[in-house]
Amino acid sequence: MSNGIGLHEPKIISVVNQKGGVGKTTTTINIGAALAAQGMNVLLVDLDPQGNASTGLGFPASVRGKTTYDLLLDEAPIEEVVHDTEFEGLFLAPATTDLSSADMELVSNEKRTFLLRDSLRQPAMEKFEFDFVLIDCPPSLNMLTINAMVASHSILVPLQTEFYALEGLSQLMLTVREVREAANRDLRFEGVVLTMYDGRNNLARQVEADARDNLGDMVFETRIPRNVRISEAPSFAMPVLSYDPSSTGAVAYSALAKEILIKNNIMAEA
Ligand SMILES: Nc1ncnc2c1ncn2[C@@H]1O[C@H](COP(=O)(O)OP(=O)(O)OP(=O)(O)O)[C@@H](O)[C@H]1O
Ligand SMILES: [Mg+2]
Repeated sequence: MSNGIGLHEPKIISVVNQKGGVGKTTTTINIGAALAAQGMNVLLVDLDPQGNASTGLGFPASVRGKTTYDLLLDEAPIEEVVHDTEFEGLFLAPATTDLSSADMELVSNEKRTFLLRDSLRQPAMEKFEFDFVLIDCPPSLNMLTINAMVASHSILVPLQTEFYALEGLSQLMLTVREVREAANRDLRFEGVVLTMYDGRNNLARQVEADARDNLGDMVFETRIPRNVRISEAPSFAMPVLSYDPSSTGAVAYSALAKEILIKNNIMAEA
């Protein structure tokens, strides 16, 4: 299947927001699963030293083996870092706390903003035939996040529907502009997704209106509702799609994945 980028060349999307706890990891895991459920081959790259995406997919630190640290700093072959998950079509490159020292090591050399880009474009990637690579970024605009942006075709920004949601966006936009100027001219916005949305809450509705006024059609139509099944799923090492497929959270992430497939001309509009 073509993803609009090229034959066996995956579309690479970074999930970014320097604000903590806005739903980056949850969104990366569940879009990954929802895309895989649509027949896509998806690699989730955990680029956060917290390793939440790795834990959430059933990889506690003890079984992670080679990680994204090895990929970035020891030129580990991609096939040693990619693990099969329980969810068909979804693969994981895990992270451990080592990665926080990688951030420091990366600062010392400007060329090192290209490390992830180069590792994700190594010839051995081809045989996996990934359609999408999703990168879960840490809550910071640090060198790891810069590496992710340099490696990516686009960024996807989860926005928690609460007061201050839009505050950090100008800083994020500034960083995107700098990355475009210095290293990745073609970096695009995949879109902004509203997370933990509670429609009964006036403030959430106001934040949504502000986001849509300011960002227009960059904001995905699908909102991710606040849903307890979403927050329970990682403790069962599952995406919400397998933990509770009929939950509002699973339905929303499936709809979001469809929007992404349509935006990328992989699926026709219904
Ligand atoms: N739609 C949702 N409904 C209910 N809980 C949610 C939802 N999305 C995320 N959460 C919960 O909110 C918390 C933060 O989510 P998550 O870890 O995905 O954010 P994050 O941006 O990756 O955080 P960090 O910045 O620390 O990496 C988690 O406990 C998660 O289970
Ligand atoms: Mg996270």
